[in-house]
Amino acid sequence: MAGADKTADPCVMVIFGATGDLTKRKLFPALYNLAKDGHLPDKFAIVGVGRQEMLSDEFRDQMIADLKEFAGKEADENGIKWFCDRTYYTGGDFDDDKKLFADIKDMLRDVCDANDIPPNFFYYMAIPPSMFANVAKKIVKNGLGRSENGNWRRFIFEKPFGRDLASAQKLNADLLKILNEDQIYRIDHYLGKETVQNIMVFRFGNSVFEPIWNRNFVDHVQITVAETLGVEQRGGYYDSAGALRDMVPNHIFQLVTLTAMEPPASFNADSVRNEQVKILQAIQPFSPEDALQCAVRGQYAAGAIDGKAVPGYRSEEKVASDSNTETYAALKFEIDNWRWADVPFYVRTGKRLAAKHTSIVIQFKQAPLMLFRDTPVERLTTNRIEIHIQPDEGITLHFGAKIPGPIVKIGAVDMDFNYSDHFGEQISTGYERLLYDCMIGDATLFQRADMVEAGWRVVTPILDVWNAIPARSFPNYTAGSWGPAEADDMIGRDGRSWKNTLI
Ligand code: BG6
Repeated sequence: MAGADKTADPCVMVIFGATGDLTKRKLFPALYNLAKDGHLPDKFAIVGVGRQEMLSDEFRDQMIADLKEFAGKEADENGIKWFCDRTYYTGGDFDDDKKLFADIKDMLRDVCDANDIPPNFFYYMAIPPSMFANVAKKIVKNGLGRSENGNWRRFIFEKPFGRDLASAQKLNADLLKILNEDQIYRIDHYLGKETVQNIMVFRFGNSVFEPIWNRNFVDHVQITVAETLGVEQRGGYYDSAGALRDMVPNHIFQLVTLTAMEPPASFNADSVRNEQVKILQAIQPFSPEDALQCAVRGQYAAGAIDGKAVPGYRSEEKVASDSNTETYAALKFEIDNWRWADVPFYVRTGKRLAAKHTSIVIQFKQAPLMLFRDTPVERLTTNRIEIHIQPDEGITLHFGAKIPGPIVKIGAVDMDFNYSDHFGEQISTGYERLLYDCMIGDATLFQRADMVEAGWRVVTPILDVWNAIPARSFPNYTAGSWGPAEADDMIGRDGRSWKNTLI
């Protein structure tokens, strides 16, 4: 993993889907932050590509407005001007074999000449996955896709990468017919989050945690990605995807693999990803019976978030009024390797839950002996390490301490590390690091083909069962709650409970 503070290579970023939401909310602000911190070279340009016909000047005006809205108060006039001087736009029909791609070719030549940029290009596919392979094919056909003469060509693909194992395999195969794996960057924005990257530093940059990070000491692991948001304007996409597809094989499995993997031989991209994929391969595929016992789905009914009434999922825009799509998913599985055998991993994610809260809880086993028998102590505090990913980033160690006084009583206390207390507030969209890494050719934080497929291999049998047996109890949780009772029952059957606490 590169850590050097250096400027990226001179290059042009070509954004397909340049007029979309992702570009204005995440990509522009991320590029702006990179430029502000000196990570973008002076010889840098952006070519936006969209369906709409528009002049570069009109696109720049839109970009200025977007930067002011989404890059926050940090966006100053000089910084915005720096961007405008380097931004261009071309529009047209993505299906048209000739016109649009010939225009892009001309524009790239002119932009490189005008700004003295060598033809290093990276293409950001902020478009529906069904268009990935076709657009990539057309880029290659027009001579703009292969790395040559020391100049590189890279492709970033947004999620979702496929909708099940078969479609992900097909997409990988189609792309690998025209591109090399080292040109393909499958993005998962969770890997751009500081605390997610910190999991590796926490585990492998310290000596005290790793010796207890295994089945001898760990009782179970819980991962929660809870959102208060509903489906917003994305009902169309979401209703055909659902919570499991949207969050589990990608974001949640990134958290699982970084938490569970063995120390890699080095921090180069393939060493890290080799260890991550081994974890996914060690998760046993769910049998139909497991899918019924160890996977829970839910859908929210109307309720309240922060005291404000919100509609149920079936009343959201572009969602079918009898939709059977899940907005909540919880799974229990085991990782069949020497480190983790018999340690259950419980993961859950959902929309319209009680709080926005993403965390990883490592719950340790009880102390082996109840030493305080003749005292009022009835139960020992179980230790846990909680890695908070959002909204606050930090790490908490939970343990028992003696309550002052003549009688032995134990109180549960926390030792807290909070990122912003130590390192100050970082303004980041999560995309900065990933865009920068692509520009310097470091794929460590991107998903390799085998990782994507291994993730789908685990969840596809659950999707199949859910598809075959429509949920009868939907909606089964109230917006603003912690999800369906079935999820509490699933973990409760093992004598455990979800940790719903917040820092
Ligand atoms: C996206 C999902 O990938 O991640 C969304 O498609 C989800 O449904 C989002 O809301 C969550 O991201 P974050 O960074 O807000 O946790």
